[in-house]
Amino acid sequence: MSAAFASESPCRLQVALGNRSYPIHVGPGVLGDPQWLAPHLAGRQVMIVTNASVAPLYLERCRAALPEGLEVRELVLPDGEATKNLAHVSRIWDALLEAGFNRRCTLIALGGGVIGDMVGFAAACYQRGVAFIQVPTTLLAQVDSSVGGKTGVNHPLGKNMIGAFWQPRAVLIDTDTLATLPERELSAGLAEVIKYGLIRDVDFLAWLENAMPSLRALDASRLAQAIERSCALKAEIVAADETEQGVRALLNLGHTFGHAIEAHQGYGAWLHGEAVGAGMLMAAELSARLGWLPAGDVARVREVIAAAGLPLAAPADMTADDFLARMRLDKKNVDSRLRLVLLRALGDACVHDATPTQTLEALLGDFPRQA
Ligand code: NAD
Ligand code: GLY
Repeated sequence: MSAAFASESPCRLQVALGNRSYPIHVGPGVLGDPQWLAPHLAGRQVMIVTNASVAPLYLERCRAALPEGLEVRELVLPDGEATKNLAHVSRIWDALLEAGFNRRCTLIALGGGVIGDMVGFAAACYQRGVAFIQVPTTLLAQVDSSVGGKTGVNHPLGKNMIGAFWQPRAVLIDTDTLATLPERELSAGLAEVIKYGLIRDVDFLAWLENAMPSLRALDASRLAQAIERSCALKAEIVAADETEQGVRALLNLGHTFGHAIEAHQGYGAWLHGEAVGAGMLMAAELSARLGWLPAGDVARVREVIAAAGLPLAAPADMTADDFLARMRLDKKNVDSRLRLVLLRALGDACVHDATPTQTLEALLGDFPRQA
């Protein structure tokens, strides 16, 4: 493991974006510690937005960490991927307007990726842009969605199709919050952690192969290390390519297949990370069919995905045509050419827009389906 991996507590990373740079604080107790929130508030008006599952667990702790003398409002939305739509973002705007919040207000997104994406989008649009802080409470949000400024909502025809790039002022990752996370959600977050190893850091992948049982057993120190390494890799990529003109697209490994599964099944039926897990295996198998990845490497991908507790098969009722119809709507496509993130080798991903249709159709047809 590299020196960059050594954990201080809490660890501070930086997303380097000039005058929009921001810190990522990772560690136990970050949520309840007043020193982390206060420096990033734009003014006196603060709205904490969370959902009905997270509120009873962490809302009070978040509120108590705010300085005295602020005008603080709370908004508790319903839980679930199916709520990630414009109607629920509108509820945030309604609440801000009803409270008379001005351009110097700050929104705090307390929850998983659904809350983070919606609150970020609400902040991007409210009065043409106000401050927001990410306080992610799922592993998936801690290692991926809270960092990098992709915000938005789903459309019935496609995942995350409506949105904006809007960077937070800070990302505060309290690793203690993972103690209450359901096991299935932990596995979903591990999919995005594995992704970093597959696209960029084969040593990290090897570390994960070894650490997976401890991560699933909530070993706090190893989880913190996995989060720090994931955030460091993401911060580096976002700093190099904020609006996904190039290298950032690699973060979508498995997502073109995964988004197709999520949309086809109805949002929420498969967790995002579960769909990405199966999608990464599909990408690895397609890479093998193109002659890039040896069978032994595909086996490693399958084993680490299985060890994380993620699905290794696509939905039973999803045909190759179902996949293709959804994949044609992918945001990465240019001039109706499918662009897929594939693996030249483990730790070395690329965007490929010349997969022969027959090869892709064969993979989609042959890939195992759930019983
Ligand atoms: P989620 O937000 O739905 O959270 C998962 C579940 O865990 C929810 O039921 C939530 O209420 C609950 N929960 C949250 N924190 C908890 C805690 N500490 N203890 C107990 N329960 C807790 O899902 P997610 O996996 O966090 O995020 C998925 C979303 O993130 C998807 O919409 C996906 O598109 C998006 N995403 C965005 C980006 C990005 O770059 N913006 C990247 C990856 C994923
Ligand atoms: N989760 C993909 C990205 O942030 O670009």
